[in-house]
Amino acid sequence: MNELDQLVEQALAAIDASADNNALEEVRVSWLGKKGQITALLKSLGAMDPGERREAGQRINRAKSTLLDRLNERRQHLAEIELNQKLASETIDVTLPGRQRVGGGIHPISRTMERIIRLFRQVGFEVAEGPEIESDHYNFETLNFPPHHPARAMHDTFYFEDGHLLRTHTSPVQIRVMEKSAPPIRIIAPGKVFRADSDQTHTPVFHQVEGLVIGRNITFADLKGTLQEFVNQFFEEELPIRLRPSYFPFTEPSAEVDIPWRKADGSTSWLEVLGCGMVHPNVLRAGGVDPEQFTGYAFGMGVERFAMLRYGVNDLRQFFENDVRFLQQFARR
Ligand code: DAH
Repeated sequence: MNELDQLVEQALAAIDASADNNALEEVRVSWLGKKGQITALLKSLGAMDPGERREAGQRINRAKSTLLDRLNERRQHLAEIELNQKLASETIDVTLPGRQRVGGGIHPISRTMERIIRLFRQVGFEVAEGPEIESDHYNFETLNFPPHHPARAMHDTFYFEDGHLLRTHTSPVQIRVMEKSAPPIRIIAPGKVFRADSDQTHTPVFHQVEGLVIGRNITFADLKGTLQEFVNQFFEEELPIRLRPSYFPFTEPSAEVDIPWRKADGSTSWLEVLGCGMVHPNVLRAGGVDPEQFTGYAFGMGVERFAMLRYGVNDLRQFFENDVRFLQQFARR
């Protein structure tokens, strides 16, 4: 009993020295557990004279509650330290940039198609559509390609077993529109076309916008003026166009249209961007239009070509590879 004060001092020092909850628990057990030193003192009370026992019991119990209080304090202190460490190590830097959303964009081909459509609608053209799976009748026959005409061979057609085909151009829409409506007709027909052809300048799928105007006294001059104005609007500058005599079964006379293509080395060459001509009388007749009363012009333009020129893209295949680094450049233009 004489050592009690000393024991309490030792126990308090051990409590204060324990660095974590495990150490603290060990200290508690060694002093206040079943076999702890203070517990042993309490057990020894039974062997004392009743006179001493009362006072000794009070002293031991006081010592015990002193230790319990200190244990609780230490436990709280350790919990606080632990919390502070956690807060310090898990800080959030609110000045870091937030997680960005990747903004989608409209594909350059779609953009170009939309731009072409908008410009023609502004001057009164309506949009018409036709099927991508076509019959020989609409894709060739009614467009004045007789069965063994050599121009068919130039189309590298994908055929289905039943004789249907993937349309090789948007020109069949011309006939479909003539069948459904009477002149005056002023339409454009945008869409996908297909040819079994693949290299640096050809892909098996590409896009065209067909144009058809039928009325009284429609002339080649109307065609040329419309195309020149379209090119100026499309490129937002006065660009010369070059019409070269050409041949298509469905137009007579026919021309191909070139526009200047500024190359990377600074030089300029001509790039063919569309075919056009006066609608052949056979085609008007096939569509139910009287060629004695009406004339018309038609054109078919390659959308990829216009996109390449507008955006300075020099490999056609980039449009179809879906490389996000390429596509992102067009997202906000
Ligand atoms: N269909 C032709 C092609 O794909 C393009 C074309 C040329 C369309 C002359 C026309 C046209 O309407 O008049 O090569």
